[in-house]
Amino acid sequence: MISLTGKVALVTGASRGLGRAIALFLGETGADVVVTDLLIENDVTDKDKMAEYGKLAAHFSGTDKVRTQQTADEIKKMGVRSLGHKMDVTQPAQIQAVVSETLKQMGRIDILVNNAGVMDNMAVMEKQTLNMFERDLKINLTGAFNCIQAVWPYMKKQKWGRIVNISSFVGLRGALAQPGYGASKAGIIGLTRSLALEGAGYGITVNAVLPGFIGTEAVKMHDPKMLDQIKDRIPVKRMGNPDEVAPLVAFLGSDHSSYMTGTAIPVTGGADLFSF
Ligand SMILES: NC(=O)c1ccc[n+]([C@@H]2O[C@H](COP(=O)([O-])OP(=O)(O)OC[C@H]3O[C@@H](n4cnc5c(N)ncnc54)[C@H](O)[C@@H]3O)[C@@H](O)[C@H]2O)c1
Repeated sequence: MISLTGKVALVTGASRGLGRAIALFLGETGADVVVTDLLIENDVTDKDKMAEYGKLAAHFSGTDKVRTQQTADEIKKMGVRSLGHKMDVTQPAQIQAVVSETLKQMGRIDILVNNAGVMDNMAVMEKQTLNMFERDLKINLTGAFNCIQAVWPYMKKQKWGRIVNISSFVGLRGALAQPGYGASKAGIIGLTRSLALEGAGYGITVNAVLPGFIGTEAVKMHDPKMLDQIKDRIPVKRMGNPDEVAPLVAFLGSDHSSYMTGTAIPVTGGADLFSF
């Protein structure tokens, strides 16, 4: 029943996993979609630089799991418009260039989904470094801020905007051996609520989605034994699928959610309910 026909959406970190599923779902519901990611096919500069973005970026760079342009091509086949762009959310100039290109090609920008993130900095406190902690914040939290700042003036001018920030249930509950990740995802909730207050006067809603354990390629790389233990602790006894998160993002991107702003909605199979 949700129709995003006539809306233009920009999704970050959409080459794989949750971001790709969200981009495809937005396309299916009729939106024109700008698919963006740090990684893009045939990006020759990637390999050398990717290690500074973490283990996952280095692992996936240059593989067939990089599907930024492919995702845009799949969306075009649905009969809507789509663009695929390299866009590092830590680089305001790159973001501005993509936003300008979107406005030029698509004429507007209605929905921003801040999905790009890193979750591979896992170490106890003695083994954490300031660099790694700050990298988590820079990509996961400041990255979302950078993208919102780039689209804000246009949404404000058109008096309509939907910003959906992908946080995590660990933003509420904490994450053992992931202080940077936990802080960045809690920070996203604060960013969401603060900007929801400001956007309310301009028709811009800002909401956060808090996934639990979702079986994306990145999550499935963990030790299978550890994943089994995790599944066992989730009330519904399984990980979620990206397709179980994407419809909520589409709803929050639509007119139907017009009276919702500043929310932080868990999609966890009940994993956020435990207090022990
Ligand atoms: N999978 C889960 O269980 C889960 C749970 C809660 C929250 N999340 C959040 O959902 C989002 C997606 O998770 P996923 O499992 O699909 O992970 P993923 O690692 O597969 O996807 C993250 C994407 O972000 C991109 N990215 C990384 N750094 C970037 C940068 N600087 N600029 C632009 N793009 C960049 C990556 O290239 C990748 O395509 C993340 O924000 C993650 O924290 C995931």
